Amino acid sequence: MADPLLSVERVSHRFGGLLAVNAASLSAQPSCITALIGPNGAGKTTLFSIISGFLKPDEGRIRFAGEDVTGEPPHRLARRGIARTFQIVQPFVGLSVRENILVGAHLHHRARDAALNVAEQVGREVGLGAMLDRPADSLTVAGRKRLELARALATEPRLLLLDEVLAGLNPSEIRDIVPVIRALCDRGVTIVMIEHVMQAVMSLARQVFVLAEGRMIAAGTPGEVTADPLVVEAYLGHGAAKKLGAAHEH
Ligand SMILES: Nc1ncnc2c1ncn2[C@@H]1O[C@H](COP(=O)(O)OP(=O)(O)OP(=O)(O)O)[C@@H](O)[C@H]1O
Ligand SMILES: [Mg+2]
Repeated sequence: MADPLLSVERVSHRFGGLLAVNAASLSAQPSCITALIGPNGAGKTTLFSIISGFLKPDEGRIRFAGEDVTGEPPHRLARRGIARTFQIVQPFVGLSVRENILVGAHLHHRARDAALNVAEQVGREVGLGAMLDRPADSLTVAGRKRLELARALATEPRLLLLDEVLAGLNPSEIRDIVPVIRALCDRGVTIVMIEHVMQAVMSLARQVFVLAEGRMIAAGTPGEVTADPLVVEAYLGHGAAKKLGAAHEH
């Protein structure tokens, strides 16, 4: 296997007395889709905030492209090629779709024309080509999710962290956006996605990591982790795997 683009090594983070992330490790292979799943409150978003520099870990290391980047601020990590989307989508109201994407494009392009080109290209790539001049607040939920994706992509990331980009979408909207995500990985963007929509995880991810109460309790292919009794317990509660097993036997 190639060297991972991202390695999270035994990272911990406390919010006061709460150990939200507890010695969690994860790695992402280049140009692959890795999924991070786990019950609500498991610490998934906190882990993304650490990887993207919005929070500093209390313990552990983050390595990106062979370098130790632990504790670097978000703008530095963005320059290195790490971008994230936010679970709660908040476009800049009063700006058009194009202008929203442009904010990200200015990271690598000071000249307005070059940045506009990138914004337009990225807008088309996520399927917002026809909406570029509309106000961002006129977009539907699905449109806002695409815009969130575009804003991150406009920074031309090597690593893209997607925090529940499919949440709140209906099945047909999910079917439409899954190929957009797959195409990004095909053109070399490494993706780590937090996702509750298991069908999408199964079809997109090569590797799945499972976080529960701050700890990484399982890792493997989608088939391996969904068959893991520890994972079933984490989702359905204590004793669930045994009960399910018993139910199967009858
Ligand atoms: N800024 C904060 N201050 C204090 N506690 C926080 C903060 N952010 C998150 N937490 C707590 O840390 C734990 C992990 O939260 P986190 O948002 O990382 O979980 P998650 O796995 O992303 O959950 P979800 O699936 O609901 O998005 C939760 O108990 C949450 O209440
Ligand atoms: Mg979250």
